[in-house]
Amino acid sequence: MSVIYDSQTGQYSLHTKNYSYIMQEKRGFLLHLYWGKKIMGDCSYMYRMQLRAAFSPMMEDAEGPILDDAPMEYPCWGRADMRTPALEITNPDGSIIVDPRVVGRRIQKGKPQIKGLPAVYCENDSECETLVVELYDEVSNIAVELYYCVLEDYDIITRYAKIINKGVSTVHLDRAASAAVDFDNIKYDIISNFGTHARERHIERSALNHSRFVMSSRRGASSHVHNPFLIMTSKNADEESGEAYGFVLVYSGSFTAEVEGNQYDTARAVIGLNPESFGWELDPNEEFTTPECVMTYSAEGLDKLSNNFHKIFSNRLARGKYRDVRRPVLLNSWEACYFDFDSERLIKIGDACADLGVELMVIDDGWFGKRDDDKRSLGDWFINEKKLPGGIKRISDHLAAKGVKLGIWFEPEMISPDSELYKAHPDWCLHYANRPRSLGRYQCILDLTRQDVCDYIYESVAKILREGGISYVKWDFNRNWSEAGSAMLPANRQKEVDFRFYLGLYSILERLNQEFPDVLFESCSGGGGRFDAGLLYYMPQIWTSDNTDAIERLKIQYGSSLVYPLSCMSAHISAVPNHQTDHVTSFDTRFTVALTGSFGYELDPTKLCEEEQNKVKETANLYKKYGEVLLKGDYHRLRDPHAEDCSAWCTVSADKSVCIAGYVNTHVKLYPNNDRVTIRGLDENATYKEIFSGNTYTGQQLMNFGMHIYENLEYRSHLWIFERV
Ligand code: DGJ
Repeated sequence: MSVIYDSQTGQYSLHTKNYSYIMQEKRGFLLHLYWGKKIMGDCSYMYRMQLRAAFSPMMEDAEGPILDDAPMEYPCWGRADMRTPALEITNPDGSIIVDPRVVGRRIQKGKPQIKGLPAVYCENDSECETLVVELYDEVSNIAVELYYCVLEDYDIITRYAKIINKGVSTVHLDRAASAAVDFDNIKYDIISNFGTHARERHIERSALNHSRFVMSSRRGASSHVHNPFLIMTSKNADEESGEAYGFVLVYSGSFTAEVEGNQYDTARAVIGLNPESFGWELDPNEEFTTPECVMTYSAEGLDKLSNNFHKIFSNRLARGKYRDVRRPVLLNSWEACYFDFDSERLIKIGDACADLGVELMVIDDGWFGKRDDDKRSLGDWFINEKKLPGGIKRISDHLAAKGVKLGIWFEPEMISPDSELYKAHPDWCLHYANRPRSLGRYQCILDLTRQDVCDYIYESVAKILREGGISYVKWDFNRNWSEAGSAMLPANRQKEVDFRFYLGLYSILERLNQEFPDVLFESCSGGGGRFDAGLLYYMPQIWTSDNTDAIERLKIQYGSSLVYPLSCMSAHISAVPNHQTDHVTSFDTRFTVALTGSFGYELDPTKLCEEEQNKVKETANLYKKYGEVLLKGDYHRLRDPHAEDCSAWCTVSADKSVCIAGYVNTHVKLYPNNDRVTIRGLDENATYKEIFSGNTYTGQQLMNFGMHIYENLEYRSHLWIFERV
């Protein structure tokens, strides 16, 4: 049993395979007692009753808990807890208090789905047990249900909250976080991420101190700048040891992930919708459900934490036909042609794909409307017959005869002012009537809070897919928000736009998933601007970054791997000099780096010399052979590119029979390189043969001594593939 409630003591215990999460009911408050290595039995002694604290107000009868210090499971604003809250409301009388107390609980098998939102699922009820703690505020008439879904074998607990208005007047939600956890000390490090376009998810580690640490987005997208995950670790934690706590929000819009170091040397983590760009009018009898937060704990360092997230996201968040199969080797036209293509050029590229063993060719931006540059036509999703006479079908038929599938790019949430759609519906984009409309990449964002707009988007994409011949869709999103008003919503609901937009997007994606189960969808937002667990529910892979440079990708992929699995990270070999950085790296280095995700090419195959063509054939075959290991294997970060002049990693199949390991030197060393890379996760009693050299090693040798690094020149790499003999 993974959920236990003891009515005698008021203790709630959630147990996964390796850890416990324990709560205690006291005077109607739901308090947090413990999150860490597994503990069974009565833990009520853990409750620490503080009797007095200067300046922190007491309960009315002075009998504790002191709210400003108590470890609250879902802290509410308005009474005496001055720390970061999870829930804030404005009552119809203008008061800003909400004080719900526990009134009941339900324990149920399985995992309820959240209506309209992406969430972790289970395939049968035995995979999950759910605790719902019911709270009620009799003055506000607000009910709060706290959901704790325990996926024991995955070492995962997911949380979300449902707020229900049981009163007769509308209540305004100012903040509704997905999860909060109070820690009883402040001695943690925070592992945070930051970035920008083409430099996503770089990692920083800092000590938590007595202040508020905030990572957030107000951009209407999870964003390049901060990704919606947060990791806290014990001071001594590294890849293989120490404690690590992880939170990932399953949402694609504005969010906040905060940790506050408090005056009494405790810490509070809160993650959820960003209250700065959120508000919700909750009418009588209506309910509001927050996005889900996925949490895990590891007593064995970051490696285990990451693998817990990888397994749940690739097995129980990603869905559909492609969840469990190796992804097709693809070639994308963007860096090959940009907007400069016609049918003849695409057919030549497609022919080369067939010759080289590429399985899917993707026509990126530029096939529709009058789209010869990025200034026009978004919204006009009809084929440019001038460029592509005979349409997409002519190309897909040609490719199909050669065994190559076809994919196509869309950016459906956008509208160019220079489009037929804008002429017909100038009010369809997000805007305020009395303000100018800022453009980003010459485009505005459609108002997905409107059903008519959602229907238009759905039909535009579906119409093209219904014509047949398309096996893959790249779904792009190339600007952040501004003047995000909706012409359809009344003044008091304008702050609902962010969340309603994503309800609209998720509903479109759900319909498309249902109607086109055989199409592989890949999410993209100028690379990794919406690289989040929300979109992973609808699209099992994501374009990791517009930066295709192998060296730059090391940090981006390292940071992404902290919580996201390789199966969702698209990584392509591009041409040199690299289009973003001008770096020249060898084909081998580019392959080593790209072999850590859903693999492909971002180059014009008709321009390759014979040697490069052979390399493409060889690398495509290697991915076909080992792609399944990358999809499902255990991933280990072996070297940190932020800390050293190199990066290294490996992926090991579940049965430990195959291991793919990579190393890249990022800085020239004018001296002999005495470095060695030790591999993790192998069977130490087995013997492995390295397939390129033919040399054999024992698992013990590889894990304890490792492999010599002879390379000391910049950007040189090693790729080893070990197979158990
Ligand atoms: C941004 C994407 O990240 C690129 O790969 C490409 O699809 C362009 N948009 C096309 O406009």
